[in-house]
Amino acid sequence: MKLKNPFVLAPMANYSDLAFRLLCRRCGASLAYTEQVSAIALSKENRKTLNMIKTCEEDSPISLQLSGRDKNILLDVIKKHEKNYDYIDLNFGCPSKKIVKCGYGSALLKEKEYIKELLEHLSSNMKKPLTVKMRSGFKQNESLELVKIMEDYVDAIAVHARTREQGYSGKADWGIIREIKENVSVPVIGNGDIESPEKAFEMLNLTKCDYVMIGRAAQGNPFIFEQCNDYFNEREYQKYDLKEKKGVFFEYHGLLKKFDLLNLGLFKGQALEFFKGYNGSKEIKTRIVTSKNTDEIIEIVKRF
Ligand SMILES: Cc1cc2nc3c(=O)[nH]c(=O)nc-3n(C[C@H](O)[C@H](O)[C@H](O)COP(=O)(O)O)c2cc1C
Repeated sequence: MKLKNPFVLAPMANYSDLAFRLLCRRCGASLAYTEQVSAIALSKENRKTLNMIKTCEEDSPISLQLSGRDKNILLDVIKKHEKNYDYIDLNFGCPSKKIVKCGYGSALLKEKEYIKELLEHLSSNMKKPLTVKMRSGFKQNESLELVKIMEDYVDAIAVHARTREQGYSGKADWGIIREIKENVSVPVIGNGDIESPEKAFEMLNLTKCDYVMIGRAAQGNPFIFEQCNDYFNEREYQKYDLKEKKGVFFEYHGLLKKFDLLNLGLFKGQALEFFKGYNGSKEIKTRIVTSKNTDEIIEIVKRF
């Protein structure tokens, strides 16, 4: 994996849609992922799932993130869709109960033998590079053992440096990322708790990882990628005001319409992220949540 800069947009269910990815790329994100989609759901080709993986020429480089465990279903889905993506990423990190119950996401971290079998089967039968995104372990940190199994089959490893058990509690342990980087030969994408350009720079310096992945700090804030690049190159960056935030939100709305991805529930969630933390955010929050359609949300934001 060779990217134009170190700053990668994380896969985020309900947030990292095509329109949002395009804005992040324009601000300088060097790689983006689709949100995770279930291989089984994708094999059934329902419209909702296909919308989740919609992409276009400018949405590049792009990784399709899959969750699943059945190696044959995964391979079938990969063979069908890989031509539209630069990478195929397998989710070894999702902590949600629903996913873990099916044996997907972070649950796979408990099955070291099967990880090898699965990655071997996929990587030797697919054309595009395979990558993984993982947590540091299920109950405890076993990341070193896990990445040593994975590295033979993948082109990059993204690590959210918390175990599944930790959820989002405490702090991500960046020492784990450093240790992984020192011990594997493939590019390492560090992830967890990058809240600012300064933190992104700190993770790169402390862990020596190749790339850093930004999740929550990018929600409603595509500007973070420009700020990270500027801080990386010049040790300073521009702050953006509400007017500029509104501008990029209206652009987001336009892109959703262009790609036929406008969905009231998802748009509400994004609007809340774009306008959290400002004076008066609480009042518009209730109005956004109770809006009957997306035009109403646009009007609320215009007057905010
Ligand atoms: C709303 C939300 C949705 C997420 N969805 C996914 C997902 O679909 N696939 C995935 O691998 N990780 C997912 N994650 C985890 C993030 O990619 C990332 O690993 C995590 O948030 C830690 O990074 P951060 O501290 O920069 O937020 C999600 C996180 C959030 C907050």
